[in-house]
Amino acid sequence: MLRRILLGVSRSPQIKKAVSAMPVSSGIVARFVAGETTPEAVLATEKLVSNGLHVTLDHLGEDVTDLAQATATADAYLELLRALAEAGLTANAEVSVKLSAVGQALPGDGEKIALENARTICHAARNAGTTVTLDMEDHTTTDSTLSILRELRQDFPETGAVLQAYLHRTEGDCRDLATTGSRVRLCKGAYKEPESVAYQDKRAVDKAYVRAMKILMNGEGYPMIASHDPRLIAIAGSLADRAGRERGSYEYQMLYGIRPEEQLRLSRDGQTVRVYIPYGEDWYGYLVRRLAERPANLQFFARSLISK
Ligand code: FDA
Repeated sequence: MLRRILLGVSRSPQIKKAVSAMPVSSGIVARFVAGETTPEAVLATEKLVSNGLHVTLDHLGEDVTDLAQATATADAYLELLRALAEAGLTANAEVSVKLSAVGQALPGDGEKIALENARTICHAARNAGTTVTLDMEDHTTTDSTLSILRELRQDFPETGAVLQAYLHRTEGDCRDLATTGSRVRLCKGAYKEPESVAYQDKRAVDKAYVRAMKILMNGEGYPMIASHDPRLIAIAGSLADRAGRERGSYEYQMLYGIRPEEQLRLSRDGQTVRVYIPYGEDWYGYLVRRLAERPANLQFFARSLISK
């Protein structure tokens, strides 16, 4: 309930303005966001990689409303990929892209613009020796995102997708994508969605996550288990064993700043673990989703605002 209220209230422009005025270095923002610049993102990557972890980097931004902004986001990814290659990090670092940050929501040709920007990023990623995964946003974008994924995969079959267990449609999407070479990141889902398309109850979402994992683990693709939930992480391990999967034929993924000890524990246990690192100036939407996931985060957030 609190999650739905917070996700709703966060759409207020006044609240967005007040919160966005906080410095990125302030407690709660710094916990979840690695910084605002490319060098800060590279530094965070270096630290995690030196501890045996892999990363995927997200240049923050979403729901871009003009073409120049969409192009600027694509350029930021090109700069990031160059910097990662120069630092010798691309064997362990890939990028995650929100299509709404590269033009998907623009009126008229939005989908086409997002496809072309994503294609440019995929090309740069391949030249740098790494890959791209397309993030998944609210359900009104799912068909468009999967259609752009299909187009991209014709030239860049290594492009990954995200599926959200809370959507009723996801088991079907898992079956479609559990094919050779297909990288699928499975998460619970972070947006405020109506009952008509998504499970609302936490237990129903968890059960749907297990059903989706079964399909992915028994399929031909590369499952990326994106969750901090200890039960789901344990079940993923059992399902992988039962499906006869070797370590390295699937991976665990967690967000920057969430359960860092568990990230290291799994990695030391021989598992591939990838940390999703968000960075950039437009961190508001991302921060709100993290706050909404866990009421305890709101206390840290309130303290950050008071000490501002
Ligand atoms: P759950 O929310 O039940 O949390 C399990 C435990 O993890 C909690 O008890 C707590 O210990 C810890 N935890 C979880 N969230 C926390 C938080 N914010 N702060 C502190 N502790 C927390 N969503 C989406 O809609 N589209 C996307 O593209 C992506 N991409 C993505 C990539 C990666 C790598 C991850 C890990 C997640 C996403 N997500 C996402 C977010 C995802 O949908 C989901 O909202 C969060 O991962 C939280 O769900 P959990 O599976 O962790 O379970």
